[in-house]
Amino acid sequence: MSEYLVQFNNISKFFGKVIALKDVTMKLKKGEIMCLLGDNGAGKSTLIKTLAGVHKPDEGEIIVEGKKTIFDSPKDALDMGIATVYQDLALVSLMSITRNFFMGREPMKGPLIFKTFDIEKANKIAAERMGQIGIDVRDPSQAVGTMSGGERQCLAISRAIYFGAKVLVLDEPTSALGVHQASVVLKYIVKAAAQGLAVILITHNVHHAYPVGNSFTVLNRGKSLGTYPKKDITREKLLSMMAGGEELNKLEVELQEMNRSSAN
Ligand SMILES: Nc1ncnc2c1ncn2[C@@H]1O[C@H](COP(=O)(O)OP(=O)(O)OP(=O)(O)O)[C@@H](O)[C@H]1O
Ligand SMILES: [Mg+2]
Repeated sequence: MSEYLVQFNNISKFFGKVIALKDVTMKLKKGEIMCLLGDNGAGKSTLIKTLAGVHKPDEGEIIVEGKKTIFDSPKDALDMGIATVYQDLALVSLMSITRNFFMGREPMKGPLIFKTFDIEKANKIAAERMGQIGIDVRDPSQAVGTMSGGERQCLAISRAIYFGAKVLVLDEPTSALGVHQASVVLKYIVKAAAQGLAVILITHNVHHAYPVGNSFTVLNRGKSLGTYPKKDITREKLLSMMAGGEELNKLEVELQEMNRSSAN
């Protein structure tokens, strides 16, 4: 049995002439939080979509629990315990918290041909699960649209865990959140990893990634700049490795020069 739950070996993906990914190698263990960092267009979403069964890689291989794996559809990936929470979450705002939690996998009751949706059981499970992460749901029949962004993000993560995810892939889970809600979501991610899940956390925000990540992979224009365990890299180094970091330093110098010349 491989010590790695997921391995990406030399993955490349092309969209016509666009080289979205070239020779990307990355691996992660059970219980590990790997942060995938990179500027807009670096290839982060494309990489995780090869793991989620949305795109087939043009080159390279994906190994899950030691076995080379080809996903024909997102369902294949889900069946292998790889759950992806996209930025738009795939929650339906007008539907209830409970319905969103189960989304077609509702508990049923009654004899075979008379089976009906067991609403009491579903409400109880949804409220219990949300309660475990400190979100008090008074009325699980309340529409998801009434929850805050952080609560919705937690619901999507909690749903993936309930349905048996082994690998949790989160695409920018904190990008739309304020400081408090981002910290609620980040704490929940750490708890999920402590239960043995492997987490791939995609983010632009080094300040969100650094406190929770065990390792960091930086993508730049489709290529990996390497994977670093936390002990081998500082927050500042990560920032400057992301293209945005260098450009922001340049911007700061340019702005200072503009200020100086306007003062003269
Ligand atoms: N379906 C597609 N067809 C054509 N080009 C695509 C497709 N998906 C992604 N690309 C291109 O591949 C590159 C990588 O895109 P990707 O969405 O993976 O970046 P990202 O790192 O997730 O960026 P962001 O931080 O903005 O979400 C970009 O140049 C993008 O335009
Ligand atoms: Mg993206």
